[in-house]
Amino acid sequence: MISFILNGQIIRTEEKPGSTLLDYIRYRAHLTGTKIGCREGDCGACTVLEGKLTDGRIEYRSIVSCLTPLGNAAGKHIVTIEGINIAGLNPAQQAITQHAGTQCGFCTPGFVVALTGHTMQQQPSEPWAAIESMGGNICRCTGYKSIERAAITVSNMLKTKNPDNPIGWLVGQGFLPAYFTSVPERLKTLIKGTESLQGEKTVIGGGTDLLVQKPDDIADTEPLLLFDRKDLKGIRDENGYCVVGSAATAQDIMQSALMRSYFPRLKSFFFLVSSEPIRNMGTIGGNIGNASPIADLVILFLALNATVHLQNTRTGGHRSVALRKFFFGYKKLDKHPGEIIVSISFPVPDKNTHLNFEKISKRITLDIASVNSAMGIRLQGDTIRNAHLSLGGVAPVPLYLEKTSSFLAGRKLELDTIRDAYGLLAEEISPISDIRGSKEYKTLLARQLFIAHFTELFPKKFCNRELLKIL
Ligand SMILES: Cc1cc2nc3c(=O)[nH]c(=O)nc-3n(C[C@H](O)[C@H](O)[C@H](O)COP(=O)(O)OP(=O)(O)OC[C@H]3O[C@@H](n4cnc5c(N)ncnc54)[C@H](O)[C@@H]3O)c2cc1C
Ligand code: FES
Ligand code: FES
Repeated sequence: MISFILNGQIIRTEEKPGSTLLDYIRYRAHLTGTKIGCREGDCGACTVLEGKLTDGRIEYRSIVSCLTPLGNAAGKHIVTIEGINIAGLNPAQQAITQHAGTQCGFCTPGFVVALTGHTMQQQPSEPWAAIESMGGNICRCTGYKSIERAAITVSNMLKTKNPDNPIGWLVGQGFLPAYFTSVPERLKTLIKGTESLQGEKTVIGGGTDLLVQKPDDIADTEPLLLFDRKDLKGIRDENGYCVVGSAATAQDIMQSALMRSYFPRLKSFFFLVSSEPIRNMGTIGGNIGNASPIADLVILFLALNATVHLQNTRTGGHRSVALRKFFFGYKKLDKHPGEIIVSISFPVPDKNTHLNFEKISKRITLDIASVNSAMGIRLQGDTIRNAHLSLGGVAPVPLYLEKTSSFLAGRKLELDTIRDAYGLLAEEISPISDIRGSKEYKTLLARQLFIAHFTELFPKKFCNRELLKIL
């Protein structure tokens, strides 16, 4: 039995944990404000909020219900557009109508829910963040400027929000109905027993790959749900290693104070990864487990020289494998039957370690890469102590550039070194022409991204024009 609160009502259902939350909302609960657009996480029409109690405090995040396995709703508060309605329009709805941000209205519930999710965050609102919160929503009629103006208006209204009690403040201001304040207490009674949902067939993290690829195969199953497993969550410093639980989401990593203390530009890298609702759902374990040659998080962690830690759910055995050795061939992993990824770790970087991530896709946001790349480089003076370079989209696997990386170690950081390293890089890649671009285009991108690592990390030392001349 799956128990959760849907808007104000407690739900107990025998529906399969592998079916989608969207289908439950529309076809069982008959709440039709949540729309079906693409069913692939791309349009945001099905956006809902997921409220989860963590250490007694409730936190809300936007998610797409079309890719959420119903089992992942267990023990949570799920909020649809109907659940934030008050008598009349709430301030987010008012802002959208006032700025003419709605025409046919099909996308509007998704935008309102995403924007409301932004209002519920503990951190102070910034206009750009209010706009970014709707980055996963598509509108075919209005033109985005009017919707962005509405987001800015809402962001300005949040200036006096009480960071210690955002939900209470929002209820007081009419953003949310009053029932929200009683949800944390009601959730406590539901949380117990959600572990009994576990099956063992298909492993699911956030579902953002699996439910796009084979929703029908999963709908009737009892999958092994990892998304809310506490033992797989968290990002911590452990004996000189940073350990990231496999159920940490892209958003968790992006917002992690520890990760940002190592890599101050981390947030800007993650803005290139999907959209906020997908980042709220997609886990690092799923990004590795999906084994896509262009998986952004894999590319980033390859440049951190990361290690994957596995546990066999049948035998209880543990083992670890270097991430760079984890991929055999297209979608083939060094993963034994019954094994799950429990965490991924990398050596804690010192202040001389620099990280850069680059991604080229057809759209800037909410798109998968044509080619992506990352470089982690550690310097001592002007000598490279070690370097780890990765490239996606140029081979059947996310590629760790073994030869290029080891060539760079121990050499001076200068033009000749970069030129010779590029010669090796060109030998290591084998791009093919596909829907993301021709072989020639991807080869060109690989060169541009290689150059970008040096010009982004060392702008005083290298410029684009100079590097283009020699490569
Ligand atoms: C609209 C949209 C945009 C996207 N944009 C991007 C993007 O910009 N960049 C990008 O890299 N990806 C993108 N993705 C893909 C996806 O969001 C990521 O790959 C995400 O990290 C997958 O995580 P998940 O938990 O949702 O995986 P799931 O779908 O739950 O699982 C994916 C695979 O991994 C396996 N798996 C999951 N967890 C584990 C585990 N702990 N141990 C072993 N196996 C496991 C599953 O069995 C499955 O085979 C996008 C997806 C969508 C729908
Ligand atoms: S229906 Fe398009 S994101 Fe869910
Ligand atoms: S108002 Fe028609 S799709 Fe947005």
